[in-house]
Amino acid sequence: QAFFKPIQNTAPPSPTKRHTKISVIGVGNVGMAIAQTILTQDLADELSLVDAKADKLRGEMLDLQHAAAFLPRTKINASVDYSVTAGSDLCIVTAGARQNPGESRLNLLRRNVALFSSIIPPLAKYAPDSILLIVSNPVDLLTYVAWKLSGFPSNRVIGSGTNLDSSRFRFLIADHLDVNAQDVQAYIVGEHGDSSVALWSSISVGGVPVLSFLKNQQIAYEKETLENIHKAVIGSAYEVISLKGYTSWAIGYSVASLARSLLRDQRKIHPVSVLAKGFYGINAGDVFLSLPAQLGRGGVLGVTNIHLTDEEVQRLRKSAKTILEYQSQLGL
Ligand code: NAI
Ligand code: LAC
Repeated sequence: QAFFKPIQNTAPPSPTKRHTKISVIGVGNVGMAIAQTILTQDLADELSLVDAKADKLRGEMLDLQHAAAFLPRTKINASVDYSVTAGSDLCIVTAGARQNPGESRLNLLRRNVALFSSIIPPLAKYAPDSILLIVSNPVDLLTYVAWKLSGFPSNRVIGSGTNLDSSRFRFLIADHLDVNAQDVQAYIVGEHGDSSVALWSSISVGGVPVLSFLKNQQIAYEKETLENIHKAVIGSAYEVISLKGYTSWAIGYSVASLARSLLRDQRKIHPVSVLAKGFYGINAGDVFLSLPAQLGRGGVLGVTNIHLTDEEVQRLRKSAKTILEYQSQLGL
C-alpha cells in the first residue's frame, strides 16, 4: 500500500531532472568541509565518500546521514571500495598528506603522487564520464598527474587552483576598501602557492577598475599596499595552518562554488588549474596552472583571454617554470 495516495490515478511525469552524483575521495578536514557544503547547498542527489580509513569513513557517513532532517534529501553512501563512485558526474579528490606548519605545498609532491597512482585509475574505471576536480596539494602538479593517469580529456580534469587564493584576495581588497567582497572582481592566477600572480590590472569594484576607483575615491595607495595584499594572500594558508593546523572552511566553499558552476552548467568564470600550454606564451610543456576559465557541465568550456600587463605575463611564465621544474622530476 503506497504511503501517499495520489489525488488521481495519473502516472508521475517522467523524471526530467537528471540524477546528479558527486564523489568525494578523502574524508579529512577538507573532504568533509566540501561534503557538508555540497549538502547544505543541495548540489547533488547522491554523495559518495571514499577514504582509506574504514572506521572514519563510516563515522563521517553516519554523522552526515543523521542531519537528514535538516537538509535537502541526498543519498549518502561510503566505501573503501571505489565501485561506490560508479556513475559519478563529479569526483572531488582531497586525499593526501597536508602541509606541516611552515611547509610548502610543493614539498608534499612525492607523498601525494604515490597516493594518486592508487586513487585515479579506479576513479577513471568506475566514473569514466566524470569531471575530476583535484584539491590535494600541490594541486597544480597533482592535477597534471590526474590528467596523465586518468587518460581523460583535459577539459574534464580541473584543479581547484587559485579559486581559493582569489577569494582571499577579494576579501582583503574588500576589507581595505570597506566594500562587499562579492562586488570585487579580482583574479590570482598561476600556481596555487608561493609563485601565484595577482592580476592588478584587471581588478574592478562594482564594475569600476580598481586603480581608477581608488583615484576617484581619493583613497591613497601605493604600489606597496597592493603588493602587501598579495603577500598576505600567499601567507594566508601558512598563517591558518600555524594557528589551527590545517585550512578547511574556505576551500570547502571554494570547491562548492566550482561544483555548482560545473554541475548546474553556470558557464561562470573561475580561476582554476587548467592545461595552460598555449595560453599567454606558456609553451615549455604540459603544465596545469590557474587561468580564468569558463566552467559548465562539460568541464572547462574555455579560457578567457583577459589583458595582462607585460609584468603579469612574465610572472605567470615564471610560475609555470616553477611548476614544470618539479613536474620534470615525475617522469610522467
Ligand atoms: P587530512 O589528513 O585531514 O585528510 C586526508 C585524508 O586522506 C585522510 O582522511 C586520509 O585517510 C585520506 N587518505 C590518505 N591516503 C588515502 C588513499 N590512498 N585513499 C583514500 N584516502 C586517503 O588532510 P586535509 O586537511 O583534509 O588536506 C587534504 C589535502 O588537501 C592536503 O593535500 C592539503 O594540502 C590539501 N588542501 C588543498 C587546498 C587547496 O586549496 N587546493 C586547501 C586545503 C587543503
Ligand atoms: C590553502 C592550502 C592548504 O589553504 O592549499 O591554500
